[in-house]
Amino acid sequence: MKRIGVLTSGGDSPGMNAAVRAVVRKAIYHDIEVYGIYHGYQGLIAGNIKKLEVGSVGDIIHRGGTILHTARCPEFRTEEGQLKAIEQLNKHGIEGIVIIGGDGSYRGAKALTERGYPCIGVPGTIDNDIPGTEFTIGFDTALNTVIDAIDKIRDTATSHERTYVVEVMGRDAGDIALWAGLAGGAETILCPEYQFHMDDLIAKLVRGHERGKKHSIIVVAEGVGSGVEIAKNIDEKMGIETRVTVLGHVQRGGSPSAKDRVLASRLGSLAVELLMEGKGGRAVGIEQNSLVDYDIIEALGRPHTIDKKMYDLSEELSI
Ligand code: F6P
Repeated sequence: MKRIGVLTSGGDSPGMNAAVRAVVRKAIYHDIEVYGIYHGYQGLIAGNIKKLEVGSVGDIIHRGGTILHTARCPEFRTEEGQLKAIEQLNKHGIEGIVIIGGDGSYRGAKALTERGYPCIGVPGTIDNDIPGTEFTIGFDTALNTVIDAIDKIRDTATSHERTYVVEVMGRDAGDIALWAGLAGGAETILCPEYQFHMDDLIAKLVRGHERGKKHSIIVVAEGVGSGVEIAKNIDEKMGIETRVTVLGHVQRGGSPSAKDRVLASRLGSLAVELLMEGKGGRAVGIEQNSLVDYDIIEALGRPHTIDKKMYDLSEELSI
């Protein structure tokens, strides 16, 4: 391939810039031209495409967000949208693209693959819910943001002897809640992957109180339900002072951690290597610190699973 494209799509994640940089520099190093597609699939359909040079990606490795901007694009789910996108790619002479994003972005890559267009998926999402990779770009940074918040909440929870509900992101995946809850020493972790019963939560809080526990931290993934409602319930049923912190989009920003920058650099580079070998319809990932690539359509059919052993451990450690 002599000319490739790169886009970021869906919810941004810290480290996307490092991945874009890796794609651009790796390609140029191997005499391949790179075009940036701005605003995700939306920009692809609209032809918002510009050539990138080595300097275009200078000074971005440490920045959160994405210099290519991003968007969620319902039009790309339609046949018409996909055909318009391919027309733009052909018009610009782009022979293959690297798509950096989460599950929605991968579904877009699948659609292009099914239409015979070569693309490589790079997992960029704070949710850590992409099958075929142990870690996604941005998860580590988001996790550290959440842990920093939980540590601070713990200070005030201890002083005031209150119960705190901390709502974190994750509509369908509980990885942020589980890892942050475990690292932050939360008493209870609620993930969308496991059924949650309010009565069990109350019973655990009561047990803690009877043992003399004066404060508790409950980490809840947004997919489980509203943290505000859960706190209200605790307040009403137990009559204890409960406060809520909804961390929201603060989790999506910030300078990427060293781990995310290295992961992004490695995965972005592998994506270009695959296109150089003439491969498309693949997604890249990391398993046991080794880079892997796999069929993107097959992988999308696999459900995301949470680490059950880690969840059980969190239960054991938060008695
Ligand atoms: O997919 C990443 C994510 O941050 C989810 O955790 C969250 O549910 C969603 O995006 C929020 O999306 P938006 O920024 O479009 O509100």
